[in-house]
Amino acid sequence: MSPSTLSTTKFTALLALAVSVAAQAPTATFPPTALAEKHFSYPTGIPYKVDTDQGLIRGFQHGYNICNSTTENQHSLCQTSFLNAIDDFCLWAPDLPESVVADTEGEMVAWCTKPGKGTRLIPANALKGVQFMRTPDYVQVVGFIDQSKINIKGDDYGGEMDPHGADLRGNPMGGLIFSNAFSGGGDNYQQVIEWHNFMGGNAFCLKVCDPAGPNAAHFCEHRLDRIGCAYNAPNNAQNGTFESCLGDNQDYPGVYTDPAGAVHTYTQPPEEEGAISTMPYQPKVPASSQCTTLTSEVLYKALATVTAAIDSTITSAPTGVPTGASGSQPGPGGASRPASGTGSAAGAKGTDNAAVRETVVIGGVMGLIGVAFAGLLFA
Ligand SMILES: *[C@@H]1O[C@H](CO)[C@@H](O)[C@H](O)[C@H]1NC(C)=O
Ligand SMILES: *[C@@H]1O[C@H](CO)[C@@H](O)[C@H](O)[C@H]1NC(C)=O
Repeated sequence: MSPSTLSTTKFTALLALAVSVAAQAPTATFPPTALAEKHFSYPTGIPYKVDTDQGLIRGFQHGYNICNSTTENQHSLCQTSFLNAIDDFCLWAPDLPESVVADTEGEMVAWCTKPGKGTRLIPANALKGVQFMRTPDYVQVVGFIDQSKINIKGDDYGGEMDPHGADLRGNPMGGLIFSNAFSGGGDNYQQVIEWHNFMGGNAFCLKVCDPAGPNAAHFCEHRLDRIGCAYNAPNNAQNGTFESCLGDNQDYPGVYTDPAGAVHTYTQPPEEEGAISTMPYQPKVPASSQCTTLTSEVLYKALATVTAAIDSTITSAPTGVPTGASGSQPGPGGASRPASGTGSAAGAKGTDNAAVRETVVIGGVMGLIGVAFAGLLFA
């Protein structure tokens, strides 16, 4: 065999190997267009799936974005969500019971308080207290929930969903949120480009920023995923109270003013440094006004007959479910919550950073190669 033949043979073999690897293994991380760059009009401009990227390491979009009466049931995989008002919002939560947020954030589906949008409905009596707040730059809903009724494992301190994620495909991948809060109400739904949603610790916060606001990306910051609602959406929501308020803007998440008047920006420490046990500041809860107190029976009457797939009396997890970072202690978001429950919301857990979460998610979907790629790409 001549050297040139050998080399051709080798090349052919390598090429064949390369083609076969390419066919079997995902080779890229980032989509050509980031989720936050994809803009749609509701309802006619929405594709069946917003995320059509094939062969990326996190696999395929779990659900779909065209949602209608056919998809409106408790198995819906609708990933088109809303935040309009205290009686009309959706939260991201898992498809299957007893899930851990860190393991399922890429596949979350919409759970809503009102029928009519092709989604799942939040089961009756799951919501224990909700505060809706409208400010100049955003609207947010913060509350207390029996999270087992929306498929989140009872002891999970959860994590953050946003339209970015380490690979820019969003968490959930392909998830969209619309609102009529900045477009005159009614059926004038407008896509909100920047939003964040913390779920966990039997609490939640969801903030959607006015797409016309110049600082939407700051108010709806998505990097501080380990410090929960108390720092990302400071509020005085009360367990047991349902109220709709007006309020001033918060400081941008992570930005704070010390007693001497100097402004600082907090940097979330890397995961390798372990759990976040101290914080250099207490977030300022902005002033609110014109709060209207309501009752859950009136607000959520459409949910009265909606039952949960699993209820809070069941606590054991199915075996074989990857536990990821579950079961760790609440972070400062939770720990700093006063005993009265005035703080609010999801204490993010120490191990819940993007790298871990992405890796865990991929582990279930892609197997070993996916994990290896993830370890390299997200490290
Ligand atoms: C309803 O939604 C499903 C799922 O997205 C879609 O396949 C179907 O075409 C929709 N039906 C109509 C009438 O739009
Ligand atoms: C909210 O109050 C209910 C009782 O109405 C209680 O069961 C639940 O644990 C409380 N939630 C939180 C997060 O404190």
